[in-house]
Amino acid sequence: MNQSQLDALREALQFSPQNLPLRRMLADAYFQLARYEEALDEYKSALQLSADPDLKIKLAECYLQLSNYPTAHVIAEELLETNPSPQILFLLARISLASNDLQSANSYYKKATAQDHTLTQAEFESQLNQAIRESGQAQTSAFQEEIDRIEAEGSGLVEKPRVTFAEVGGLSAVKEEIALKVIHPINNPEIYKAFGKKIGGGILLYGPPGCGKTLLARATAGEIKANFISVGINDVLDMWMGNSEKNLHDLFQQARMNTPCVLFFDEVDALGASRTDLRKAAGRTLINQFLDELDGVKYSNEGILILGATNTPWYLDTAFRRPGRFDRIVFVTPPDAEARMDILKILMEDKPTEGIDYTHIAKQSDGYSGADLRALVDIAVEQKLPESLRLGKVLPLTTSDFKEALKKHRPTTKEWFATAKNYALYSNESGLYDDILKYLKLK
Ligand SMILES: Nc1ncnc2c1ncn2[C@@H]1O[C@H](COP(=O)(O)OP(=O)(O)OP(=O)(O)O)[C@@H](O)[C@H]1O
Ligand SMILES: [Mg+2]
Repeated sequence: MNQSQLDALREALQFSPQNLPLRRMLADAYFQLARYEEALDEYKSALQLSADPDLKIKLAECYLQLSNYPTAHVIAEELLETNPSPQILFLLARISLASNDLQSANSYYKKATAQDHTLTQAEFESQLNQAIRESGQAQTSAFQEEIDRIEAEGSGLVEKPRVTFAEVGGLSAVKEEIALKVIHPINNPEIYKAFGKKIGGGILLYGPPGCGKTLLARATAGEIKANFISVGINDVLDMWMGNSEKNLHDLFQQARMNTPCVLFFDEVDALGASRTDLRKAAGRTLINQFLDELDGVKYSNEGILILGATNTPWYLDTAFRRPGRFDRIVFVTPPDAEARMDILKILMEDKPTEGIDYTHIAKQSDGYSGADLRALVDIAVEQKLPESLRLGKVLPLTTSDFKEALKKHRPTTKEWFATAKNYALYSNESGLYDDILKYLKLK
């Protein structure tokens, strides 16, 4: 596009500033011409008209090009939460590399290419490898720096979530299980003592994506007003294998210094990946170290609740399941109709609504995860926004907005069950996956 075409576009927009396709065209044109500041402004304006994730991706690309990495990162991370895709993972990898966070760059890149092989890029890989070499074999990882900083300041990794079980819809059996194991013991220590029952051990939450595992872990800490330490296990593992063991110990020490504390390992399967999957010898040492720390032999784990979450429990080393470790393996199911109603109400709490028929939406959304329901709400809002902007007033969301949204966003839990079913049917040692079979009415 040349300058006069650009001028014509801009002029057209002056007459219809709400014209989204035009605005997008102009923004894309600036972007193509590497005029990123102007592109940025146009994407921002376009986003006022529609919260289209594609526009947000472009916005993040602009920030990346303009070397504003923190902002690019925030936008991309938010997208990863709301509209995850391999492309966004790849974007995050590029942002991380640009901001010299090599460990994250590597981990995002691996995830992106694992999900979509076409994203594999020799150029990116060689840039990353060169950066790693230049960082002098990277003696300190970003993670290690974080730990050092925490040791120096005594805080940072440790947080105190305010979210409680009330904000987690459904899952009452799982909540009860967690209550038995932690909340009651903390509130009634003498009863537990009388029965000679120790407080501690771990619970592993598993299930399809987006059904509230991470949320529930946070809420558990919130519920007992405990500290919360959450670690993406890839952070510990990934590139700096040699340092991992020390990191892991530091992490447990942090928890021990901050009891009562919920220590949460998200995506625990990466670390517990069954032994045969671990190509590197260091992986074994790390597993053993993890088991030692879990057992609390050298140091007491009293007052620490260890939670883990995974979508792929079948990759978890069986050693993790012995008593005192992750001795409860809890299935976090997709919400049933009643739970979906709860979740929708939780999600809609602060939004303008009018006579929404929650029963109807809940009925129509079988197989939708909590995250899917959140996507529905986002879509409903996106649909309402342009009209509200045009009329200059807040229009309440209605049942029909959700009916439209249901057509646009399909449930995401089915795929997981296709895989899970195979494991439950054919490698269900000690009835580990009976819950899955029961859920699928196969037992
Ligand atoms: N039971 C629920 N109650 C309320 N909100 C929920 C529930 N389940 C999911 N959500 C919504 O979906 C979002 C994603 O859920 P969460 O991250 O806890 O899922 P997850 O099970 O950890 O998924 P993953 O396996 O992908 O990590 C939450 O932040 C929340 O907004
Ligand atoms: Mg999660």
